[in-house]
Amino acid sequence: VSALQPLTIIRVGGKEVPYYFGEGVLDHAAALVDQHAGSGRRIVVTSRGVELLTGPRFRASFGGAVTETVIVADGEESKSFETANSIIGDLLNAEARRDAVILALGGGAVGDLAGFVAAIYLRGIDLVHIPTTLLSQIDSSIGGKVAVNHASGKNLIGAFHQPRAILADPAVLRTLSRREMVSGIYEALKGGVVGDPSLFELCESTPDALLACDREAISNLVRKAVVLKAKIVNQDERENDQRRLLNYGHTIGHGIEAASGFSGLTHGEAVAWGILAANAIAVRRGMLASSVASRIEQTIRCFDPAPIPAIDRGALQSAVSRDKKFRTDRQVMVLPREIGRCEIVEDVSAQEIGFGIEAILN
Ligand SMILES: NC(=O)c1ccc[n+]([C@@H]2O[C@H](COP(=O)([O-])OP(=O)(O)OC[C@H]3O[C@@H](n4cnc5c(N)ncnc54)[C@H](O)[C@@H]3O)[C@@H](O)[C@H]2O)c1
Ligand SMILES: [Zn+2]
Repeated sequence: VSALQPLTIIRVGGKEVPYYFGEGVLDHAAALVDQHAGSGRRIVVTSRGVELLTGPRFRASFGGAVTETVIVADGEESKSFETANSIIGDLLNAEARRDAVILALGGGAVGDLAGFVAAIYLRGIDLVHIPTTLLSQIDSSIGGKVAVNHASGKNLIGAFHQPRAILADPAVLRTLSRREMVSGIYEALKGGVVGDPSLFELCESTPDALLACDREAISNLVRKAVVLKAKIVNQDERENDQRRLLNYGHTIGHGIEAASGFSGLTHGEAVAWGILAANAIAVRRGMLASSVASRIEQTIRCFDPAPIPAIDRGALQSAVSRDKKFRTDRQVMVLPREIGRCEIVEDVSAQEIGFGIEAILN
């Protein structure tokens, strides 16, 4: 185990968070948790489906040393204040103290929920992320954002809480559905356009290998995407604007999710449509060559995103302007100049948003 070296170290908020990646990381979870986190009880928070798939391997790693396992329902519905409160009840029953460690084993929903509990329980206890979806390995486990949803919107109740470590094993991705794979691939593709052309090219040139969860292709994708996000999050300390670049595709993407009641599309699919809308706006502004926009579009379409659910244009437009990043009558959006270089544009008009929306609805 001492041979295991982190893929990268995420430096944020004065903390150093090691990110471990590789086949077999899950089997070393116990030792890595011992190495990086407190000595108290190990409490696993996971979801039903993930527990069935990864539980046995995970328990073998801990040799029965996990004191408590809290199982929630799969997916977004668990990301609520009510579930968080019920987990807190379980922690109190288990007499978890300040030195307890929460192990968040699952996708981004479990990570955000368990991380939120770790942030507030006894004013904060140790957290280790063990992400099991592609999206959570490359995105949600990195950066320290944790949250639950409110009836009136996603992620409205949250905190920053850095994990002690992130343990990502690509072997667990093989059981993901095609759509969950694609959701993560789109988030990686976004990262490529934001800051790493070679990451974009990987999505462009090896779609079949990625979809088949080919070892080498997926490892390359995760490595590049993680290093890119770590770089942006690291810079953020000095220049706290950079992180906003990661919102490329998300302004209109979030609007689509909200206007369709968060059903019908995966998050990554909504972001993919959001990217196409943002690109249309960028082309119209003369920022982006239409040939580059077509190249991005072809790559996105190659993974076959589910179509946007039938939503009303007006409802979508107002959902976009209700997004919490919205400031004035002018919208802040991330727009690309080329593959690997995006810009934060502060003055996108409602009319331009309407144009972007038209470009993706038919
Ligand atoms: N904190 C952040 O910075 C951040 C960033 C991006 C997204 N998020 C959040 O992440 C969430 C989305 O995460 P997600 O895409 O991982 O979705 P998810 O957590 O809902 O997981 C998707 C589905 O895959 C299942 N699953 C998980 N691991 C599996 C495996 N190995 N094999 C088979 N099935 C598996 C889950 O049970 C679930 O049904 C959203 O709530 C979003 O808000 C947070
Ligand atoms: Zn996203």
